[in-house]
Amino acid sequence: MVCRKYYIKTMGCQMNLYDGQRMESMLTGRGFIKTASMSDADVIILNTCSVREKATEKVFSELGRIRNAKKSDAIFGITGCVAREVDRNAFSRIRGLNFVLGPQSYHKLRDVIENPDARHLHVDLSGLEKYDAMPKMTSSELSAYIPVQEGCSHCCTYCIVPYTRGPEVSRPFDDCLKDARMAAQQGAKEICLLGQNVNGYKYNLAALIREVAQIDGIYRIRYTSSYPTEMTDELIALHGVEPKLLPFLNLPVQSGSPSVLRRMNRPYDIDEYLSIVNRVKETGTQISSDFIVGFPGETDDDFNATCDIARLVGYINSYSFKYSRRPHTAAANMPDQVSEEIKKSRLAILDGILNDNQRAFNESCVGQVFECLFERDDGRGNVIYRTPHMVQVILPSLASWQPSDNTISSVAIVKIKITAANKSSLRGELCD
Ligand code: SAH
Ligand code: F3S
Repeated sequence: MVCRKYYIKTMGCQMNLYDGQRMESMLTGRGFIKTASMSDADVIILNTCSVREKATEKVFSELGRIRNAKKSDAIFGITGCVAREVDRNAFSRIRGLNFVLGPQSYHKLRDVIENPDARHLHVDLSGLEKYDAMPKMTSSELSAYIPVQEGCSHCCTYCIVPYTRGPEVSRPFDDCLKDARMAAQQGAKEICLLGQNVNGYKYNLAALIREVAQIDGIYRIRYTSSYPTEMTDELIALHGVEPKLLPFLNLPVQSGSPSVLRRMNRPYDIDEYLSIVNRVKETGTQISSDFIVGFPGETDDDFNATCDIARLVGYINSYSFKYSRRPHTAAANMPDQVSEEIKKSRLAILDGILNDNQRAFNESCVGQVFECLFERDDGRGNVIYRTPHMVQVILPSLASWQPSDNTISSVAIVKIKITAANKSSLRGELCD
């Protein structure tokens, strides 16, 4: 079989997006062409997320659709966390599925395309092997993801990630720095350092950020996802002095209730969390958070404590989720699972508070000028930029500076005056 076109769909976190980019780069290097039409593709990859049950179920309904719509000789399979979650069972659930590659095995995609008639199953945790086994990236986005650390050893009792991505491993300092330098040479303006527990990076994240900040052509640096109690004094202080480090940080609290936090295995108390948040805020950095409502045993009082924290901190944006029972996690077997109905109504209440906070922050941006990074043309006459707080700013695209591949660099970083705000985005105009 001659495989020539590939279709890839990535779901989930930024690490998954990076993994998807890496697979694309490998396929392009081997002469494959990307297609946006699944029915036209010879290789179809669903790069999946398993953090919530709904996401996993969506993968299987999508695989069913793909099987019916794909070309008869096209091969299809899954990569990412669902692959590891469901393992070989994926083959019995989806007849004809060709490959199942876990998050640490996507370098085996090479075997898949070299031997498309075989069935491929690789879901073991091989650590960092893939980084060396994959060819280097041949191009870069304006905002380049650089993984510095993968997996997580925190073992929050609700979370499947320590099972799917394995225990925490850090990449060597020089490898990360080399990748950042190469991305800059390939046109990156922003570096986003990635890890499931990025500030637990074993070789000192603050030191790495300082080195990345020395790279010519890099204007902005950010990192995600952080664990609150792994914010070192050095890293917090860096926010106050390193101008390239964005004034925005995700520090997930998950719940405001001490007893829920204990059962979640999040070993900080609320005072400790607030003191970290306040020290970060004192550097002029704004905070966002992740929340889970309806964790097993969560009472009305527990939930109200979460709402109190949301009001008190004034997060500028947040992700909030209904607790989802996941296999391979301790919380799945806890008593007093909360009903779907209660979860739904709690989520609506919390979202009301978070949305008010977000809108208030966005409104406070009106009249200010920010240096923003180009994100994309929406194809409907607008271009979208990101402020230093990662808020979207929408501008009408003017013919004279319509970004195209070869002129994008000149409009990648621009000064924008914010003219209007709504809940989730801003409007602005270009400054001279
Ligand atoms: N530090 C990680 C977080 C992984 S999951 C990373 O980005 O790689 C992202 C968020 O999903 C968590 O912060 C948590 O709020 C939420 N989450 C994880 N497991 C969940 C579950 N079982 N149910 C609902 N939300 C969950
Ligand atoms: Fe998951 Fe908790 Fe780690 S949310 S990724 S186990 S810090």
